Amino acid sequence: MTDTKPKLFITRALPDDVEGRAKKDYDVNLQVEGTVLSTDEIINGSKGFDAILTSPADPLNAETIGRLYESIKIIATFSVGFEHVALDAASAKSIPVTNTPDVLTDATADIALLLMLGAMRRAVEGMELIRENKWNGWTPTQLMGTEMKSKRLGVLGMGRIGQATAHRARAFGMEIHYHNRSRLAPELEQGAVYHETAEGLLKVSDVLSVHCPLTPDTKKFINAERIATLPPGAVVVNTARGPVIDDDALIAALKSGHVAAAGLDVFDGEPKLNDGYRTLANTFLLPHLGSATIETRNAMGFMALDNLDAFFAGNTPPNRVN
Ligand code: DGY
Repeated sequence: MTDTKPKLFITRALPDDVEGRAKKDYDVNLQVEGTVLSTDEIINGSKGFDAILTSPADPLNAETIGRLYESIKIIATFSVGFEHVALDAASAKSIPVTNTPDVLTDATADIALLLMLGAMRRAVEGMELIRENKWNGWTPTQLMGTEMKSKRLGVLGMGRIGQATAHRARAFGMEIHYHNRSRLAPELEQGAVYHETAEGLLKVSDVLSVHCPLTPDTKKFINAERIATLPPGAVVVNTARGPVIDDDALIAALKSGHVAAAGLDVFDGEPKLNDGYRTLANTFLLPHLGSATIETRNAMGFMALDNLDAFFAGNTPPNRVN
């Protein structure tokens, strides 16, 4: 690194330790917790800066990237997902884009299991009884859910997070099935049953856990037609990206009972979500908390900074995605 610190524009408040390190090595603007910058504020605010550290909540589409000042030399996103950054537009301006893979795998897989348990064991209805002081005592038929043991878990997208979710689910006695663009090596498969098509996987998924990235091909992939092929009473879990699911179709299936319950951490159009989910008793909903642990958020921030450090030291950033 040179004596003059590179100027880093940060779009969101970050964990204290990450901001501390950023301040040490960069000339930074910091955001106050809760600040949400508009696109224009990001473009104008980053005038004269060398780099932008953004997040999935601050999308940089092709038009925004086209309007960025020429001083911007690199964009680092504080996330593994990078569909919110228009890679082609960045490449056209020779701007490398980096992400933060691996470090959020365990935290996100933990949340996938929480969603499964929460949805399958009717946690929301149970908590309401307690919080609203409506519980009249134990009964043999009260809020009976379904068990994880011996259920078939369908993992759609067997990347790092899909594998970590499967690993945890095995400990609950689930039988693992998966679909992925390519079949995994036996040591990674760990006995999981590979399905060449997603349709083949859905048919056997008592619990479907979505782990594929959002791409034009996966947008609204879990639609009415595919949901109809799930076994009756299936449970749907999503920790990947909201738009992979067609909300109207899933809500209709949750109402009809074809899908018994859904556990969702991500939503199309978040933070606004389809109101239909909110009013159903058989949804267990979290506000995109997959990676929200102190350990993981620090690791994500440090990795984003590692990428920037490498770039400003004249090296290829380790997690470049374009
Ligand atoms: C990511 O990194 O893409 C996650 O969605 C943030 O938790």
